Amino acid sequence: MIQRAALLRSRLVQSLQLCPVSSQLGSRYCYTSNAASSLQQVQEPSIYSGDEYADVDWDNLGFGLMPTDYMYTMTSSKDGHFAKGQLSPFGDIKMSPSAGVLNYGQGLFEGTKAYRKENGNILLFRPDQNAIRMKIGAERMCMPSPSIDQFIDAVKQTALANKRWVPPPGKGTLYMRPLLMGTGPILGVAPAPEYTFLIYASPVGNYFKEGFAPLNLLVEDDYARASRGGAGGVKAISNYAPVFNAMKRAKGRGYSDALYLDSANKKNLEEASSCNIFVIKGNLISTPATNGTILPGITRRSIIEIARDSGYKVEERDIPVDELVGADEVFCTGTAVVVAPVGSITYKDKRIEFKVGAQSVSRQLYSTLVGIQMGHIEDTKGWTIEIN
Ligand code: COI
Repeated sequence: MIQRAALLRSRLVQSLQLCPVSSQLGSRYCYTSNAASSLQQVQEPSIYSGDEYADVDWDNLGFGLMPTDYMYTMTSSKDGHFAKGQLSPFGDIKMSPSAGVLNYGQGLFEGTKAYRKENGNILLFRPDQNAIRMKIGAERMCMPSPSIDQFIDAVKQTALANKRWVPPPGKGTLYMRPLLMGTGPILGVAPAPEYTFLIYASPVGNYFKEGFAPLNLLVEDDYARASRGGAGGVKAISNYAPVFNAMKRAKGRGYSDALYLDSANKKNLEEASSCNIFVIKGNLISTPATNGTILPGITRRSIIEIARDSGYKVEERDIPVDELVGADEVFCTGTAVVVAPVGSITYKDKRIEFKVGAQSVSRQLYSTLVGIQMGHIEDTKGWTIEIN
């Protein structure tokens, strides 16, 4: 593996030209590209010939970082215009100790996946929705953002350049993590003078260690995930570290994750640490409304549409925690999590159990979603983009 990495790097250095990269990121070898036409260049780089798959134990993927060959970076000019995106070998980035993202948490992230089809081609799932969400988040965080086209082009380039890391069908996916960060130096509390958009990638399997087994959630009634008027409704990097304590506490007691309540009244369900939540009772599927404290998940939205198409009534509304008693099923959704059944939720030491298994509604919704994402079910909605 180490020899392979060294070989790859030396072949990469031979095949790429040295070009200047923003001082924020340091200078290094890079593969410059700036437009859709550059996709042609990325499609079949000579370094991949005969190398269909990276040397990975595809049967044992979890959700841990496995660095791939390339990452994509694009910096903004002082007027907030993004240009000259480029692929370069995955590696550390350099920034000022006074970068806005390090000092004031001025940053957003996204998560999107590349799926391997049986014919070897790659499918992307609704990257336009990630681009739009990043734009909305950027406005909230006072940052400029790449255009929708720039974002999608960058995701395509990242997926193609790392194609050998996209797991074989059914073994996992290539998770891509777009970041938008204030990388310019700033001392006073204010937006940074310069920004970096970056995408790195890692092959992943199941997010939870439970795999496909049902999750057991613990309702957290001390810490909140988000509050009204805050930034819980956008994918701010600063939304995540504050849940570590609750997660740690839940996991320490043997639960899969913590489930948060609204911060004002501690009454309504919000979401888990990294995913949205749905509750099923009969033909009604409910999920908390995106009122500013709920992350508008792309999987969440896709599942709402699939459920409605399948004849279920879907309501986006406040869901009192007390409604869990009597619910038939509960499940979580997210890009990383996909659709994960919840077997139990414990609230104030009372454990409530839900239906799981092959006949469950959540399994049916999961199968439809994943079928579209993998290209097994015809995509009549224009959600997928095939690249090769
Ligand atoms: C995703 O599903 O992409 C997420 O943002 C979850 C992440 C925190 C692992």
